[in-house]
Amino acid sequence: MLLLALESSCDETAVAILSGRPGRAARVLASEIASQIELHRVYGGVVPEIASRNHSLHLRPLVEQALARAGVTMRDIDAFAATSGPGLASSLLIGATAAKAMAAAAGKPFLAINHLEGHLLSPFVGSGIVPEHLALIVSGGHTLLLDVAGAGHYRKLGGTRDDAAGEAFDKVAKMLGLPYPGGPEIEKVARGGNPEAFAFPRSMMKEPGFDFSFSGLKTAVLYTLSERNPESGAPHPAELPDLCASFQEAVIEVLVTKTLRAARHAGRKTIALSGGVSLNGALRAAFQGACDKEGIALATATPGLCTDNAAMIAFAALLKAFDGHASPLDADIDPNLPLVATS
Ligand code: KG4
Ligand code: ZN
Repeated sequence: MLLLALESSCDETAVAILSGRPGRAARVLASEIASQIELHRVYGGVVPEIASRNHSLHLRPLVEQALARAGVTMRDIDAFAATSGPGLASSLLIGATAAKAMAAAAGKPFLAINHLEGHLLSPFVGSGIVPEHLALIVSGGHTLLLDVAGAGHYRKLGGTRDDAAGEAFDKVAKMLGLPYPGGPEIEKVARGGNPEAFAFPRSMMKEPGFDFSFSGLKTAVLYTLSERNPESGAPHPAELPDLCASFQEAVIEVLVTKTLRAARHAGRKTIALSGGVSLNGALRAAFQGACDKEGIALATATPGLCTDNAAMIAFAALLKAFDGHASPLDADIDPNLPLVATS
């Protein structure tokens, strides 16, 4: 089966073509991305109106580029998919409408895909099966712990009560005068810093359950800045590496501790990390160390599949298509689409 998927939930326009057979590893024939990061950087975050206009602009040429890279034509595509949520409404609409139009014109099935399911499955795109595991999705919009019995069988164990981990990286980076997106910038600066220099809080570590909270940590960084520089609240350049390293360490310690606790609770022997924050080298190293100690396998996505992309959406769609699923052409987008209905 050849499947073409579109992803336009936030600020990346992406098109991918996957080829696959049930039980076999899917092959990514094309995974094209038109990044808008530079356009939004001047505003310090994503501007929805600019994002949707650029999705409309980039989508068509990107589809042609993907077909050319895959060496196939539109007639060869067996099914079309798009992200239907969660995300920005005006951005989701562009990709979902385009995929439905292509499916209708070709007389082929359409599949509406949950963006979070795409992230969750991204570590397994190159393998034919999705093993039972404990999943941590850490992105700019979400921080979610799920017990996964297999593709399509998800039980939410916990999530953030306020900011997502990536959002905390982005907001703290802004306070520190670092560019958007903040995660990679903080990681870079943190390499020269001492992670124990500032004792930032590790929220909700002692509470039962598997929820997270990162807003207190963000506020702690803010207070530290205004204490040390009451006039402007700007960080002292010499302290920047220590601030970044200490903040990053606080996020990592909470994520690692709670995820391993959840894996023990669910009796899972594999942990899978996905989402943009899972690109963080210090986070990966901390997870690897903790997993090795407990005899747990760690699965991570390849770098291109961690941040938003359409290959993960195509993979999620392919698994659904193998099971005979298709979505109606009047399926709506949902900016708040949950991955599992109840927690
Ligand atoms: O998964 P993603 O591309 O988009 C969402 O679905 O949200 O994740 C983007 C997030 C941003 O918050 C960005 O700062 C963060 O991932 N990120 C990182 C790193 N690279 C990207 N956070 C920490 N360390 C990184 N190296
Ligand atoms: Zn995402």
